Amino acid sequence: MCGIVGYVGPKDAVPLLIEGLKRLEYRGYDSAGVAVRRADGALDVRKCVGRLSNLEEALEAAPLAGGLGIGHTRWATHGEPSEINSHPHIDCSGGVAVVHNGIIENYLELRAELEAKGHVFRSQTDTEALPHLIEEILKGGETSHAGAIRAALRRARGAYALGIVFRDEPGVLYAARCGSPLIVGVGEGEQYIASDVPAILNRVKKVIYLNDGEVAELRASGATLSKLDGTPVVPEVKTVTLRAEAAERAGFETFMLKEIHEQPRVLRTLLDAHVGKDGVVNLGPASALIDEAATGLRRVLILSCGTAYYAGMYGRLLIERWTGIPCETDLGSEFRYRGPRLPENTLVVAVSQSGETADTLASVRLARKMGCKVLGICNVPGSTLLRESDAALLTQAGPEIGVASTKAFTAQLMAFALLAIRMGRVRGALDARRERELTEELARIPDGIHRVLDKQDDVRAVSQKYYECFNALYLGRRFNYPVALEGALKNKEISYQHAEGYAAGEMKHGPIALINEFLPVVCLCTPTADEVHEKVVSNLKEVEARKGRIIAVVAESDRTIRGMAQDVIPVPETIEEFSPMINVVALQLFAYFNAKLRGADIDKPRNLAKSVTVE
Ligand code: G6P
Repeated sequence: MCGIVGYVGPKDAVPLLIEGLKRLEYRGYDSAGVAVRRADGALDVRKCVGRLSNLEEALEAAPLAGGLGIGHTRWATHGEPSEINSHPHIDCSGGVAVVHNGIIENYLELRAELEAKGHVFRSQTDTEALPHLIEEILKGGETSHAGAIRAALRRARGAYALGIVFRDEPGVLYAARCGSPLIVGVGEGEQYIASDVPAILNRVKKVIYLNDGEVAELRASGATLSKLDGTPVVPEVKTVTLRAEAAERAGFETFMLKEIHEQPRVLRTLLDAHVGKDGVVNLGPASALIDEAATGLRRVLILSCGTAYYAGMYGRLLIERWTGIPCETDLGSEFRYRGPRLPENTLVVAVSQSGETADTLASVRLARKMGCKVLGICNVPGSTLLRESDAALLTQAGPEIGVASTKAFTAQLMAFALLAIRMGRVRGALDARRERELTEELARIPDGIHRVLDKQDDVRAVSQKYYECFNALYLGRRFNYPVALEGALKNKEISYQHAEGYAAGEMKHGPIALINEFLPVVCLCTPTADEVHEKVVSNLKEVEARKGRIIAVVAESDRTIRGMAQDVIPVPETIEEFSPMINVVALQLFAYFNAKLRGADIDKPRNLAKSVTVE
């Protein structure tokens, strides 16, 4: 979703703003803009619809120079993608420019009030209320810019991360946060702001994570923080441990392909961090909460959105199987409005790659209000989710830049496997021998994924036959039902081929009506040894009888399914519980090659955002 970058210091701001915004392109956007305070004292704005390259061209045609500036990539919420609606937004007199992520919920009320006082609005956005409100407060006698920002934000309801510059105050960059992430990058004689660490990873090694309700006043020499009531806050400077290369493509044609290939390493890292040489799972700092909770737990509730929700569905199956604790899942956007009833001793497990998804965070806050402890499974250290959780299980996948989640998803699956084993042991539902068997099997998963990746050309050959189809159906059962959902999601997200994931047993209750000789049906048929395999085979027979085109993900040793399917994608076998981690990689590749053959912009799929920070 929208990206923010800001700079104050001795260098020319524009190239730094553009470079930072490029590093945030993955978040998804439809227009972009910058505001720079020029040396001659003017505050100048350039905005463009579409890609950042359009903005670059506009800046080449009419250059902007100055050492103080803010930049923004917009993902439209209020008002269509247009030059007028893109950020930065300014007040009537051009004295203040604002970039904003989030939503000002009472903007209509503020706008009406300000229009009545003579302010002229140019855009349809909620954001524009802020520069006008700041202008009005300054007109009313407030003398300090920081004071005007704080007063404006005391009136604004909703979520925001803000970058603000004033024409009459060279050398000061303002930032504020409530509900949308924002960091300050602390450099030597220069300061940055960014909505995400990768934007400035190559520029600074020290950051301040702003907290909700804080306003930062940044000068080249340093940062001053205050709360909305003006109380000073002592900034906590943290060192970023990520290396800049982590946010580079490393020779791959896209970030998504790079991230698909990183999965064996990511899973190995998680295993090394949490499984001892003796095969015992240790969840580090999260152990205390998990062990304490596991003994007296009555229920586990997993909350998440998007791909992370499918990881949660997988987690539920494992937790129920290995701990015996009833477990349910819910979407963040549903849970927060369903008037939930939670028994005492419910542990909430919130899953999120970014840790910033608005609906997941709102649900976590609601669950905490109801007295639940929260374990956050998350990929971003320092994220809002982790700061609001009682304990954290980091997925350690490194920055995920491709909008479509891949390595973060498999890392979430692995985190659930480790969590369920640990909880099962604490509850006494798994014994030490079983734990060792399971962790030994887990240790084989990264190699299994390697073998799928080694055969990616075979998957490409399958895509070659189907990429032009309009629709696809994905079927899986039990542990592979969430994989079918995730495979279909991946495909529609990046290739725009309509795809629907279904529990194979439900096919007869609807989707069977669609089956004909044109519909590809992707079916997850591994492992072969479990009780649902035969059922899957029967479901495939039903597809075959109606001349559906079957693409089966099968065990390398399989002989039965090959006879029924038009195409097979063989994958190494593991136990049913862990098969999703391998099977999903085959489906990621299938979606990837479909998208590539369809000529889609894979890392930046249309309309999607990497991190959905609004409801
Ligand atoms: C967006 C992303 C998805 C992601 C979902 C939840 O829709 O495009 O890839 O699964 O948000 O995000 P989270 O960061 O909470 O996992």
